[in-house]
Formats: sequence, C-alpha cells, structure tokens
Amino acid sequence: MEKIVILTGAGISAESGLGTFRDEGGLWSQHRIEDVATPEGFARDPALVQGFYNARRVQAAQAQPNEAHRALARLQRDWPGEVVIVTQNVDGLHEAGGASDVLHMHGTLAGALCASCGHRWTAPDQMQVGEPCPSCGAPAGRPDVVWFGEMPYFMDQIYDHLAEASIFAAIGTSGQVYPAAAFVHEAIAAGARTVELNLDPSAVVSSFDETRFGPASETVPAWVDELLGNR
Ligand code: APR
Repeated sequence: MEKIVILTGAGISAESGLGTFRDEGGLWSQHRIEDVATPEGFARDPALVQGFYNARRVQAAQAQPNEAHRALARLQRDWPGEVVIVTQNVDGLHEAGGASDVLHMHGTLAGALCASCGHRWTAPDQMQVGEPCPSCGAPAGRPDVVWFGEMPYFMDQIYDHLAEASIFAAIGTSGQVYPAAAFVHEAIAAGARTVELNLDPSAVVSSFDETRFGPASETVPAWVDELLGNR
C-alpha cells in the first residue's frame, strides 16, 4: 500500500498560538539566531539561551493541537499504508493531536541533553545555567534542540522513509532551512507524488507537483479527507 511521508514546520502550529520563525513578527525578528540557536551563542550567554527556551517550553506546554494536527493523526490511523510524520517543530502538538512515532528532527522542548556525556532526560520547566546532568553530574544541561551548525536527528531513518515514499507532503514550512527543504527532491527521486500545503508559497514551491495555499487547519483536513475518500 502507498507510503505517505509528511514534513511539517512551524506553520502547522501557528494556529495553536505558537509563533513561526520567519513570518512577520516571527521569532527571528525578535531574537538573533546567533545568540539563541547556536552552540556558540550558548557558550557566550547560557542564561539568555536557557531563558529563550524556558519561555518557549512553557508556552508550548500550554498550547493545544489544532485541526491540522488532528487530521494527520486521523490519516495515520485510517490510511491502509504507512504514514510517517517528520517534524522540524520542537513542540509536542503532533502527539497531543493523537499522532505517534513522530520523528522530531530538530529535537523537542520537553527534552534536556547533557553537553558533556550526551545523556538525555525530561527537561524541567525552567532550566538553569549549569543545569546538572542527572547521569554524570556535569553542570552541562542544555535544551535538547538542534541548533544551527548541528546535525539534525534521525537523518538515516528519514532518508530511508523518503526513498520508499509514494506521496510526500510538506506542511507549514518556508523551505529555507536544509536539509529539510531538500526532502522534496529525495521524494521525487523515489517517484513520489508531492504536495505543498502552506499559507504562502515556500522557497521550494516550484519543486512540488501540487500546491494548496491557506491556513493548515483548513487545507490539511480537506487533503486528508480526500486521501481517505471521505469527500
Ligand atoms: N497554516 C499554514 N502555513 C502557515 C501558517 C498557517 N496557519 N502560518 C504560517 N505558515 C507558513 C508560512 O507561510 C511559512 O512558509 O509556515 C511557514 C513557516 O516558516 P518558518 O517560520 O521559516 O518555519 P520553518 O519552515 O518551520 O523553519 C524551519 O528553521 O528556525 C529554524 O529550527 C527552526 O525548525 C525551524 C526551521
């Protein structure tokens, strides 16, 4: 049965009240990437970085999944073949919406990582400067989020899924950050049909067979209904 691989970005969580990065008033218009989303920035000012992710962690924990998250969970449940969700998002809204086995290629706000021994644990709401690692004791706890210049997670699994995709969809992502922005090309190489669902055309829109523009809470349920034949 046809395998569906779905890539999501910040746009799918926008209607749940979580800001995107590059839209007007987005996170990167309020914070410098170099300061809050690089290992160098963390070394320079760990208090600033912990503060940035602490605020996002609390906000994400209070956010609710929207119709787009729920529709993808429904597709995962009702589609006769495999449905793989790969997300660039660090919130837990896919899971809160009912999805499972979501590949968080940029990590999660709910996780903490020891920069010294690599141990992972559940992040407290407020991480401190010098957050102690519960395994090695080093004061080296950081958010388990992939920063610029670092390797995203699960890349081998993701490429294996893309190589088997019959349908590839990109939802709520601007197509400006690699390697995620190039996934459509991997899917095309595998012979997949490709669709972009976004508020506006992404930077890689011309690579897609089909495009659907509008709020994800409207376009995604309609697309899922069509796939499941519940038109
Ligand atoms: N419905 C659908 N799409 C939306 C909505 C919405 N309600 N609101 C915004 N969008 C779209 C925008 O048009 C934009 O193309 O979502 C996209 C968000 O783009 P970005 O802010 O660039 O977010 P994303 O693509 O997820 O960023 C990728 O960059 O900053 C890093 O690690 C961070 O994972 C992130 C990565």
